[in-house]
Amino acid sequence: MLRATDLVVRWGAVTALDGVSVSVGKGEMVALVGSNGAGKSTLVQALAGLVRPVRGTITVEGRLAYVPEGRQLFSDMSVHDNLRLGAWRGRDRDPGRVYEVLPGLADLARRKAGTLSGGQQQMVAVGRALMADPEILLVDELSLGLAPIVVSALADQLRLLHQTRDLAVLLIEQNAELALELCPRAYVLENGRIVTSGSSADLRQTEAIRHAYLGLP
Ligand SMILES: Nc1ncnc2c1ncn2[C@@H]1O[C@H](COP(=O)(O)OP(=O)(O)OP(=O)(O)O)[C@@H](O)[C@H]1O
Ligand SMILES: [Mg+2]
Repeated sequence: MLRATDLVVRWGAVTALDGVSVSVGKGEMVALVGSNGAGKSTLVQALAGLVRPVRGTITVEGRLAYVPEGRQLFSDMSVHDNLRLGAWRGRDRDPGRVYEVLPGLADLARRKAGTLSGGQQQMVAVGRALMADPEILLVDELSLGLAPIVVSALADQLRLLHQTRDLAVLLIEQNAELALELCPRAYVLENGRIVTSGSSADLRQTEAIRHAYLGLP
């Protein structure tokens, strides 16, 4: 459904991605973990077509939507209008569907996005992406700045969408524990390279990987 091969992306003199290959199958949930500056956001921006790689290929089959790092809502606009902006090329702009799948969002519809809490804003950002009726969703930092209870509610919503709508997800997460629990397969990105990948269960059990890359005890 999504395949990137040998991607190289540079920001000026900085090589942010140095030969990265990743894939996400239909209806698959895949995690991408790595420390600050590893290149995670650069990779999702490349996959979403927002930055052009200097080398490599990207193929996407199906509709792709993207939840950007830091939510990036229009803070002076209502939740409702923020959601409408996510509609896929003028398709159905009625957020009714999204209000059904993300409980609590309808109650916030008239509020200005900038007045919401971080968790509420993240819910709106996910909702806005779902307005595109995606078959694959890229999420850049689901848990950033959110309380554990909010994170687990969001994670439950993603899991439900995956189960009920066969939504494929590429989840970028600093919280390796969460990412590996939610996604059966994972990549670890360090300094612009995939240093290891495989089943999340295997990665979690490998002592060296836990310490060096996942920040787990
Ligand atoms: N717009 C940009 N202009 C210049 N350099 C950039 C830009 N975006 C990212 N970089 C650089 O590219 C490298 C990778 O950054 P990126 O944002 O992809 O990392 P990340 O893994 O998402 O980090 P974080 O966990 O902090 O979000 C870093 O060295 C960063 O400074
Ligand atoms: Mg980032």
